[in-house]
Amino acid sequence: MLRRFCLPVLIVVVVVVAASCRSTAQDDDNSPDVVYVPTPNDVVSKMLEMAGVTKDDVVYDLGCGDGRILVTAAKKFGCKGVGYEIHPGRYQLALENVKKNNVGHLVEIRKENIFDADLSTATVVTLYLLPELNTRLIPQFEKMAPGSRIVSHEYGMEGVAPDETVTMTSKEDADRHHIYLWTIPLKEAE
Ligand SMILES: C[S@@+](CC[C@H](N)C(=O)[O-])C[C@H]1O[C@@H](n2cnc3c(N)ncnc32)[C@H](O)[C@@H]1O
Repeated sequence: MLRRFCLPVLIVVVVVVAASCRSTAQDDDNSPDVVYVPTPNDVVSKMLEMAGVTKDDVVYDLGCGDGRILVTAAKKFGCKGVGYEIHPGRYQLALENVKKNNVGHLVEIRKENIFDADLSTATVVTLYLLPELNTRLIPQFEKMAPGSRIVSHEYGMEGVAPDETVTMTSKEDADRHHIYLWTIPLKEAE
């Protein structure tokens, strides 16, 4: 009698626990959407040059890794920067990099998801993500003021025409790298 009652209850418990584990994994918005690969420093310099960064800019790096793009921009141009990095180890790395380079008065690193970023005060956004992630960010890019720039290492954005694309060979890794530049308002691809 007891066994006849227990077995169906056990099955229900297993199914409910399995379903809840699955939904926790799927809903986990704290896991990075793309793995960490740093942009070589000469490619960073080219990205900042293409975006025409000056000291009056506010540069946002979405998925900032070790914070190198913002540290370079702050040191070269004296501009402000904001980095979003969801991975705890990389977030720490970026904080240390900012501190080591004495740009803490200019650069802020946030341990937050890029899809929660309010870009209305960004004048330059830098990216090294994936094409589908760049495309998902379009509604956030559209909050940026006219004339603001977006520059992406390696990947484009679906349905949007870049103003400029550059291919360069990095002296650091001897690989070819693509860089895309867009200006707000974004232009539909033909
Ligand atoms: C390819 S790396 C680029 C790092 C840096 N921007 C650079 O160019 O050197 C992408 C970074 O984005 C972070 N990332 C991925 N998904 C994220 C998300 N949803 N929110 C915040 N950071 C994210 C990863 O942890 C990783 O450090």
